[in-house]
Amino acid sequence: MTRSSDAARQVRALAPGARPRIAVVLGSGWGGLTTQVRDARRIRYDQLDGFPQATVQGHSGELWLGSIGPHEVAVMSGRKHAYESGEVTGMRSPLHTLRELGCEVLVQTNAAGSLRAEMIPGSLMVLADHINLPQRSPLVGAGGSERFVSMLDAYDPALRKTAHAVADRQNLTLHEGVYAWTLGPQFETPAEIRFFRQIGADAVGMSTVPETILARHAGMRVLALSLLTNMGAGLSDESLSHAHTLSQALAASDVVGDLLADIIAAIEL
Ligand code: HPA
Repeated sequence: MTRSSDAARQVRALAPGARPRIAVVLGSGWGGLTTQVRDARRIRYDQLDGFPQATVQGHSGELWLGSIGPHEVAVMSGRKHAYESGEVTGMRSPLHTLRELGCEVLVQTNAAGSLRAEMIPGSLMVLADHINLPQRSPLVGAGGSERFVSMLDAYDPALRKTAHAVADRQNLTLHEGVYAWTLGPQFETPAEIRFFRQIGADAVGMSTVPETILARHAGMRVLALSLLTNMGAGLSDESLSHAHTLSQALAASDVVGDLLADIIAAIEL
């Protein structure tokens, strides 16, 4: 029995009848979404094999099962980051569990630094693509030819279109751009930020990319959204810290939670 099958059985036992079709991963600032989950059943990660024991302040570590709009969802409040251990496989078991439970779509959220002047702190960006700067993969060691997964349109064009349509209806500006993944946990140097801009990145952050690779390998469609909490190092006078990220993220929490719920409700499966 794999750990994901064990965890799927544990979820079925703790939330009988749950049939989620959309998985959601909440990053810093996106926790407001949980207030929008109807008929929520909550399972602590320590009750589920293979789920991360969160070590980062601001990430609580619970799986929420319930509904948003017409869809049953499984919301991960808290994720495993590669910077916690150096391992990039920390989200493999949870994502396989959610796939096994029936999730076909993965909606990811994160906090990120902006590399574009017009994306000021508080702005939102949908990922069009990513750059895997550490060139680390959670698929190393996987077998079969499926491991050579295509990363073309890794961020599903139809889901991106849905996100834009919902934001437009709410008169919210939703930027679109390329997310560069760094291992962290240190923030970038100004020289690194200048380099990332030159190679085509619009935002920088320490998550999301391993999960996207895992989800594409598992056959899930992916949508990912960034809340820009700060300008990249050296692009403004503000100083960077995790506390700053969290305070910016908290300030935006209601607006982005509502937008995210409306986007999820509008997804066509
Ligand atoms: N860099 C990396 N990760 C981040 C940042 C940043 O500037 N802001 C929020 N997460």
